Amino acid sequence: MLGQRQFNPNSERPDKMAIQRTFSIIKPDATKRNLTGAIVAKFEEAGLRIVASKRIQLTLAQAQQFYGVHKDRPFFGELCEFMVSEPIVVQVLEGEDAIAKNREVMGATNPADAAPGTIRKEFALSIGENSVHGSDAPETAAEEIAFFFSGLELVG
Ligand code: CMP
Repeated sequence: MLGQRQFNPNSERPDKMAIQRTFSIIKPDATKRNLTGAIVAKFEEAGLRIVASKRIQLTLAQAQQFYGVHKDRPFFGELCEFMVSEPIVVQVLEGEDAIAKNREVMGATNPADAAPGTIRKEFALSIGENSVHGSDAPETAAEEIAFFFSGLELVG
C-alpha cells in the first residue's frame, strides 16, 4: 500500500528496541475539567508519541462493548454510565515499551495507590473517575486500537 508502513509495531523487531503502540482514553472526568492538554503533556514528557487522536462521545452500546470483559463486575453499570457522561479523547501512543511506559505514567487504577507524579495521583478523583485508561497487554492494545481507529488514521 502506498505510504503505509508495513511492519507491525507490536511485533518483535530484532534490529531495534521494542517499539510498541498502545491505546489510551482520556476519560470524562478529565475532559470535563479541561485536563486533556495536561495529560497529553505527561505522555509526551515520558517519550510517548501520539500517532492518532480524536475526541468522541461514546454511546452506551459502544461503552458496554468496549468494557465487555468487565460485564459481570459490580461496577460495570456505573463504569459505562460514566464513560458516556461527557466526551472522551481516544489516542494511540507509540514508543519503546509503550504499553508498560503508559501504565507507569498513568499510575495505579486507584488514585489512592498511585505513585507521586503519575496522572492518576495528580488528576484522578476516584477508582471509577480515574482520568485515563490504557491497554494492559499487546493483544488488548491491538484490539482496542482496532475498536476505535482504522489503519489510515494511525500516522507515525
Ligand atoms: P480502566 O483502566 O478503564 O479499566 C476498567 C475500569 O473500571 C477501571 O479503569 C476503573 O476506572 C473501573 N473500576 C475498576 N474498579 C472499580 C471499582 N471498584 N468501582 C468503580 N470502577 C472501577
